[in-house]
Amino acid sequence: MAAFLICMITVKVPLQEAERAKQELMRQGYFLSGYSVQKEGDHLYFPVKERFDSPYAFEERALEARPEQPQGLRETLKGKLPADVLGRLKTAYDQVGDIAILEIDDKFKGYDATIGKALLDTNPKLRTVLAKATGHEGAYRTQHMRLLAGEDKRVAVHKENGVSLIVDVEAVYFSARLSTERKRIMERVQPGERVLVMFSGCGPYTCTLAKNTEAEEVVGVEINPRGHELAEENSKLNELTNVKNYKGDVREIVPELGEFDRILMPLPRSAETFLDVALGASHQGTIIHFYSFLHEDDYAQADTWIQGVCDRAGRRFELLGSVKCGQQAPRVFRWCTDVKIL
Ligand SMILES: C[S@@+](CC[C@H](N)C(=O)[O-])C[C@H]1O[C@@H](n2cnc3c(N)ncnc32)[C@H](O)[C@@H]1O
Repeated sequence: MAAFLICMITVKVPLQEAERAKQELMRQGYFLSGYSVQKEGDHLYFPVKERFDSPYAFEERALEARPEQPQGLRETLKGKLPADVLGRLKTAYDQVGDIAILEIDDKFKGYDATIGKALLDTNPKLRTVLAKATGHEGAYRTQHMRLLAGEDKRVAVHKENGVSLIVDVEAVYFSARLSTERKRIMERVQPGERVLVMFSGCGPYTCTLAKNTEAEEVVGVEINPRGHELAEENSKLNELTNVKNYKGDVREIVPELGEFDRILMPLPRSAETFLDVALGASHQGTIIHFYSFLHEDDYAQADTWIQGVCDRAGRRFELLGSVKCGQQAPRVFRWCTDVKIL
């Protein structure tokens, strides 16, 4: 039978990133099933529903139409939930190891068990399905979760960028969506660098950088005791000998640690209030990766904050660039502003 070809939008993904990229596309709901995936040279071309903010290039290609593959959560729930509930349900979810985390509106709480069970049926790699019960809260930026189905646990081992991370999804901030950003930073670290990760959580940045670069030393500072405890465990789990984790407030600890070649500030809600601390640990040539949540019309605000702190300290900086590395709300993004202190 002749193949039926249709011109589709695809994302071009390097082969070695294909599995992770496909999972991410499925999680975000952009992956289009029912069409062939093409391979050409060192890349795969995944069919997607539309263009979106992506680290990969888009290309239009003629793909073969295929019979529908295994069902997603929405299809599995058809007939099990009232149509209006299903229509308004967010079926995209985060996966941390074998735990899935959904965002379900409180008014659909009565359907928790049905939704959780359907997700376990859809994805055999899952053992636990949780729903976010609150947004990120407090100084530790943690979220409460409620159990929908499966094993009642909050700890899982998550794999990304060649490291294994023990994560407690309720007691410590962690976002699997940031693995691409961690890889971006990892690719910039030069041999022999001394790197500081302020606000280091359970160690996703410290472990990724220590494992995949030739940094001389990677230092993490985290105020949440459970985050620090897991960061220590994760350094051991990945057999890292060039990581040091400190428990406490960066304002008290960082001034005792000397100077660094690279400083990460992954606290987008209020990192600007710690820029003076980062500047104090910078020498000429230090690169700072500064994270913020800003509206796309207002992203230059980050440069203004950095300019203000440098002016007060009599220092100068060069702006290396700003990248979007996540979305927080319509037109509000997580930005990373990269600067070099001169
Ligand atoms: C957005 S989370 C990022 C965690 C981790 N870097 C990651 O990407 O998974 C920010 C972290 O900063 C920590 N934190 C907040 N204020 C702090 C401070 N003054 N000193 C040290 N850590 C702090 C919080 O406990 C939280 O774990």
